[in-house]
Amino acid sequence: MKALQIKAYGGPEVMQIGELPEPDPKRGQVVVAIKAASVNPVDWKVRAGELKLITGRTFPKTLGSDFAGVVERLGIGVTEPPVGARVYGITPVMMRKPGAHAERLAVARKRLRLMPDSMSFEQAAALPIAGLTALNGLRKCGELHGKAVLINGGTGGVGHFAVQIAKARGATVTAVCSERNAGRARSLGADVVIDYRKQDFTAGSVRYDVVFDAFGHLKYPDVARVFTDDGTLVTTLPALPLIARAVWQKVVGGRHRIVLGNLRDHPEDYAELERLLAEGSVKPVLDKIFPLAEAAQAYAALEAGGTVGKVIIRIV
Ligand SMILES: NC(=O)c1ccc[n+]([C@@H]2O[C@H](COP(=O)([O-])OP(=O)(O)OC[C@H]3O[C@@H](n4cnc5c(N)ncnc54)[C@H](OP(=O)(O)O)[C@@H]3O)[C@@H](O)[C@H]2O)c1
Repeated sequence: MKALQIKAYGGPEVMQIGELPEPDPKRGQVVVAIKAASVNPVDWKVRAGELKLITGRTFPKTLGSDFAGVVERLGIGVTEPPVGARVYGITPVMMRKPGAHAERLAVARKRLRLMPDSMSFEQAAALPIAGLTALNGLRKCGELHGKAVLINGGTGGVGHFAVQIAKARGATVTAVCSERNAGRARSLGADVVIDYRKQDFTAGSVRYDVVFDAFGHLKYPDVARVFTDDGTLVTTLPALPLIARAVWQKVVGGRHRIVLGNLRDHPEDYAELERLLAEGSVKPVLDKIFPLAEAAQAYAALEAGGTVGKVIIRIV
């Protein structure tokens, strides 16, 4: 089978389509024939060696985390879902774990979620990491109805879900994005759009109850200037000073809250995302779709910036 592989950590040049033996499911695993996968920043960070503490130094490695496909074989101890079932999920980026940018993947049964009938493989592949991260970060902010919520990076993978979810929950939403994507941010539901190259929202006079940093580089002292009395800062990429401040605030308290908005993939989280999709309040945006043979270009598109929603690799 074909897979997007690396034989060393590095830049885009280390990626190549390699030929691998068909995977055998171990006990508790299922082999999924992958139909579509999406690219997340974690995938290019793995490729670049930024996560080598958890991804190790064994090569070749197959890249990729989010996938959607069809159950092909069941390992010992697995009785469902049946062969042919449409499933989606996330395979963890860890030492020796195979990635999802491949024709087939052996993955633990517990990582699989049945796809709703109405969902395409591309839509399902777009959801897990970005959608579940947006959902969890906003869930930790409590009631959003009537609140002023700012999404920094509002048209990216995580951000475009966060804008839609915050809007569905009744918030007034400001999206911070690049100028070329302003119209797309409005069509996702943003009431106000700020171009991050022209305006620094932390220097303005507008106050926010929640700042969701999907870009991940905001600093608390800057954001604190534009918080209401009980503002909450959610970040998907917590730097050490922010983690330290979050711990400190948990212990000693304070006016503002800092929330580490990591992905959570409990069944109830998937169910909530699927409900939002079914009712039409959330729709994954599929920016560009590449065949597996051009997977390196899918990475290049995401890394270059400017994409709206998700970049997809179609594997058929
Ligand atoms: N902790 C977790 O569990 C978790 C889960 C998912 C993601 N993450 C992390 O969260 C980050 C975002 O992920 P993603 O999938 O949303 O990535 P993405 O699709 O690349 O989106 C990043 C967004 O940030 C915007 N941006 C770039 N420069 C900016 C600036 N100076 N100010 C405001 N926005 C700016 C980009 O806009 P333009 O492209 O228009 O410039 C883009 O929309 C990544 O670092 C990722 O690793 C963490």
